[in-house]
Amino acid sequence: MKPDVAQLLAAARLAADRGAAFLLEQEGRLGPESWAMKRPSDFVTEIDLAAERLIAGILQGAVPESRVVGEELTPDARPDGLTWIVDPLDGTTNYLHRFPWYAVSIAAAQDGELLAGVVVHVRAGERYHAVKGGGAWRDGERLAVSGVTDHAQSLIGTGFPYSELGQLPVYARQFAAVIAGSGGLRRPGSAALDLCDVAAGRFDGFWELALSPWDVAAGALLVREAGGVITDHDGGADVISRRGSVVAGNPAIHAWLIRLLADAAENGGTA
Ligand code: IPD
Ligand code: CA
Ligand code: CA
Repeated sequence: MKPDVAQLLAAARLAADRGAAFLLEQEGRLGPESWAMKRPSDFVTEIDLAAERLIAGILQGAVPESRVVGEELTPDARPDGLTWIVDPLDGTTNYLHRFPWYAVSIAAAQDGELLAGVVVHVRAGERYHAVKGGGAWRDGERLAVSGVTDHAQSLIGTGFPYSELGQLPVYARQFAAVIAGSGGLRRPGSAALDLCDVAAGRFDGFWELALSPWDVAAGALLVREAGGVITDHDGGADVISRRGSVVAGNPAIHAWLIRLLADAAENGGTA
């Protein structure tokens, strides 16, 4: 049966709003003694777990035949059939430090095809959503990627490979090349929001070496529905079936980034 996309979007928005309200209410409650690390610099707390439980309950209550791939509770679930891809708290490090830049990210996919995506920027009170073929939106405003085509004028977002330090030498060369070739580089700390900022035309491009499906799924649909491009570092369109690299941007800056990053990874080239 074909999923009802309006119903998926409504469920995702409700779950994201409830998750966001929960995060806000709990912010600042846990001290460093209760922060656990899954990998170096990859924190998790009982708040991430409780938020995911809350969100998954709402999603599966609304669509009982669906399954959830969620970062904390069901990361290894098979994404077959109608699947929710959930990051209950994207930007945990920011959240724990009360740095006001974190999000809830929820996407719905049918056999790997993204149908709907919602990201709530909790502290800014901004709600992003997209459905396949229906455009990308922030609250009531339709989004479009930027028209910046000259890389020297571009503002680029990125994320650091804290959890995969073996990638640091390659990342450092890419970092140097982007600094030399762009107009500015930022690292806010939530990949889901970085992709929303590409969709909204605030960032002209973005890259990160190792992201998981829940970091990317909702934001990927937002970028595409806003007229942007999002791929892995080889230009492959599948960015949600496994952990890996992500390059996004308006079409011109995405193409520039793909070339620049590959060159820098191989031989340390610059802009
Ligand atoms: C992290 C954020 C961050 C990115 C990391 C992600 P989390 O997600 O999206 O911006 O650089 O790679 O793991 O752990 O806060 O959900
Ligand atoms: Ca995340
Ligand atoms: Ca998370």
